Amino acid sequence: MRIVNVALGARSYDLKIGTGLLARVGRECARLALSRRCVIISDRNVAPRYGQAAQEALAKAGFAPSLVAIPAGETAKCLKTLKSCYDQLAAQRLERKSFIVALGGGVVGDLAGFVAATYLRGVPFVQVPTTLLAQVDSSVGGKVGLNLTAGKNLVGAFHQPRLVLCDLETLNSLPMREYRAGLAEVIKYGIIYDAGFFRRLERGLPMLLRRDPPALAAVVARCCEIKAEVVRQDETESGLRAILNFGHTIGHALEAISGYGKFLHGEAIAIGQVAEAKLSAQVLGLPSRDAERIERIFQRAGLPTRVKLNTPQQRRLLAAMKLDKKVSAGEIKFVLARRIGVVEFGHQVPATLIPAAINSQLSTIH
Ligand SMILES: NC(=O)c1ccc[n+]([C@@H]2O[C@H](COP(=O)([O-])OP(=O)(O)OC[C@H]3O[C@@H](n4cnc5c(N)ncnc54)[C@H](O)[C@@H]3O)[C@@H](O)[C@H]2O)c1
Ligand SMILES: [Zn+2]
Repeated sequence: MRIVNVALGARSYDLKIGTGLLARVGRECARLALSRRCVIISDRNVAPRYGQAAQEALAKAGFAPSLVAIPAGETAKCLKTLKSCYDQLAAQRLERKSFIVALGGGVVGDLAGFVAATYLRGVPFVQVPTTLLAQVDSSVGGKVGLNLTAGKNLVGAFHQPRLVLCDLETLNSLPMREYRAGLAEVIKYGIIYDAGFFRRLERGLPMLLRRDPPALAAVVARCCEIKAEVVRQDETESGLRAILNFGHTIGHALEAISGYGKFLHGEAIAIGQVAEAKLSAQVLGLPSRDAERIERIFQRAGLPTRVKLNTPQQRRLLAAMKLDKKVSAGEIKFVLARRIGVVEFGHQVPATLIPAAINSQLSTIH
């Protein structure tokens, strides 16, 4: 098992990465001096697979767990599901010292984390992420929240978990498309922070695509280390943490204009990262060889890298980028790469460059 600490003073916690961790969730929670009562929040794909194992492990360690299963998928990250979670916690008389276990992907982690941040003005929570994306990204760092009709993640809070348990074995049941989407965030860490890691990914990609356990353990641990380091330096995103949004300015807008249906988040940010690498080449002098390596690795991972937008779609994309909550005073700010491993945030990009960076004949939005 590998352990990465997120050093945030009194809010510090460990990320534990390895196999067989689901069966240890009870023992691991027992070290945290939490009260007996807890509620596992999961979704309807994950609960039938792993809910019982989590409940048994918690019960064996002396906890009294119950299970709440929300619908699966991004549309469940909404006010309606939030209300139903609150109602079920109230019906079960969850108390201030009780805790929540988020068992699932980023949707469950974000929503259950927001429930934990707000129910009774905050209860402790533990993340047990079961998608690659959640293990390397969303379960770490304390950003929790949900979507409104007007946009993604518009309601949220910072609420750090007490522990994150990444059981690599749970990834075996993840559909290949979801797994590839998680690789988009993995590759992002190489681009924004660690050129050596990017090179190792280029070499090790075939093993990673086979979900080879040692390769996966090393990669998940390195991603968690990078995220933990960035979050330690800037917990509430007043600066550095923005580098984690590389590829997301365009990626989020693509998700928004396609109604959150066409692309998985990881797919949208694969296109976004390739487009923002091209903008980096134009605006910040990213060597074109680096931009090519970036596009190539996403292609090899089986991710989309370009999309064809017609003129109305281009207009809607720019409008969606301006609605993003990271916009200040109407200016769209980008994270751009100077070279692989080194990015800078807060760069303005002329709007006229954006459509060409995204467009190609490869796929269209319908
Ligand atoms: N809080 C953050 O810092 C942060 C960072 C990045 C992304 N996010 C959020 O994360 C969400 C995306 O997360 P995601 O990609 O994990 O999506 P997800 O939670 O919807 O999971 C993807 C799908 O896989 C299923 N699934 C999960 N684990 C499985 C398993 N082990 N086996 C089989 N099926 C499984 C889920 O039921 C779902 O259908 C988005 O809402 C995004 O905004 C948050
Ligand atoms: Zn992301």
